[in-house]
Amino acid sequence: MKKIIVAFFMAFALLNCSNDETDSPEPNNTLAVPFASAASSTTDTSFQANWVLVPDAESYLIDVSINNNFSEMLAGYNALLVEGNTVAVTGLSQAVTYYYRVRAKRGTEISNNSNVITVKTTGVQPEEPEDPTFLKVKVNALANPFFVGVAVKSNQLTEGSAYDTVLKNEFSSITAEYEMKMNPISTGSGTYNWVATDRIVKYGNDNGINVHGHALVWHNAVPDWLSSFSGTDEEFALEVKKYITDVVTRYAGKIKSWDVVNEAVNDGGNTRNTIFLQKMGANYVKDCFQWARDAANAAGDTDLLLFYNDYGTSTNIPKQNEVFAIVDDLKASNLIDGVGFQMHNTYLSPSKAQIETDINRAVAKDLKVHVSELDIQVNQNNDISFLTDERSLAQKAKYKEIVSIYNALPVENKYALTVWGFKDNESWIPFSTDLNHPGDDWPLLYNNKFELKKAHTGFLEGLD
Ligand code: XIL
Repeated sequence: MKKIIVAFFMAFALLNCSNDETDSPEPNNTLAVPFASAASSTTDTSFQANWVLVPDAESYLIDVSINNNFSEMLAGYNALLVEGNTVAVTGLSQAVTYYYRVRAKRGTEISNNSNVITVKTTGVQPEEPEDPTFLKVKVNALANPFFVGVAVKSNQLTEGSAYDTVLKNEFSSITAEYEMKMNPISTGSGTYNWVATDRIVKYGNDNGINVHGHALVWHNAVPDWLSSFSGTDEEFALEVKKYITDVVTRYAGKIKSWDVVNEAVNDGGNTRNTIFLQKMGANYVKDCFQWARDAANAAGDTDLLLFYNDYGTSTNIPKQNEVFAIVDDLKASNLIDGVGFQMHNTYLSPSKAQIETDINRAVAKDLKVHVSELDIQVNQNNDISFLTDERSLAQKAKYKEIVSIYNALPVENKYALTVWGFKDNESWIPFSTDLNHPGDDWPLLYNNKFELKKAHTGFLEGLD
């Protein structure tokens, strides 16, 4: 009887024991998908990936990628096995966006992927260095090169200055930004201040750099003595003739080309109502070209190129029509060699087609084309406070576009493509009252520190 009781007790104990085993973790539930939570402790080169623990999971598999579709995993982070709810992801690059996700694991069972967490390391992504190739070096290697010009001030031309170095490396032509206009040169009837002009012309001649003259007649550069001239209209015209004759004669053979008249058409598409029109009459543009031609010929320079120069014609068709009416008239008298298109453009305008249509009108008349004052505004609406990456790329694209338009011109129509200054902070554009420009801007090829901008690379790419 005692034996029976013992056997019964043992059987009960065994049964009990097997009952214990069914209660212990041998789950028949599916493994839950973990929830990935935001990264923490982000630095330039690392972050901590976090997730919420899943009941019954033994470990976790973490993937890190630079693609949000995880097409390729970061080395060492392709299903990295981790226990716990966090892992340090290290050895990363600065300012790069990474993605992570996690799966739970129990034995051979693996859950689906969690949600994806995006994390950007701190720091600044090292800038791609701009292509350091010199502009004129690349242009001169073309089958049909042209002059690459820049607007200068005489005080920039000191040997060994940063301007001097950049100019000699990159440019093959110069235009005086203001010192060769009538108001600084003409101090009175028949009296002149040649100091700055002589310096600019000598610099070009000594260094094998082309010199473009800008501009003999411009309503915005009339010296006070002439704007308050009290003589007759005939005497006024004689003063203008004398000025043109003396300037052209002095620099005959030293200056390759002159803008004879600048901006004679207004934005309404009519002849601009300037003092020259008022006192000299409707034929004044032609008279000025004739005097310039006569002076050059008399001085033995039969190769001087005479340009008509204006702005805003690509987007203003009435103005374009009027400019080309003047050009036609000059051409019919064999007095003009080329048209200067200032191209004070913006990152939005004019379009490629508008520029091409405008320039092609000069090409169709067998005239030379000078893109004479190129700059490209990026803040004409004052909506940025520094040059953003996005705007800088848009500007680069626009520089590339105009250079490629220019470079595609037939060889006989090419002359020069001139940029209106060196450094952004010295451009005439920011806060310009002439232009009603409302704020700061960055329209040129070099920043304030004379470093190459993306715009410079855009210029180079336009030559490809
Ligand atoms: C601007 C210069 O950049 C300024 O420095 C100067 O004070 C005024 O003239 N159209 C022209 C250029 O033809 O001569 C002008 O240059 C810009 C507009």
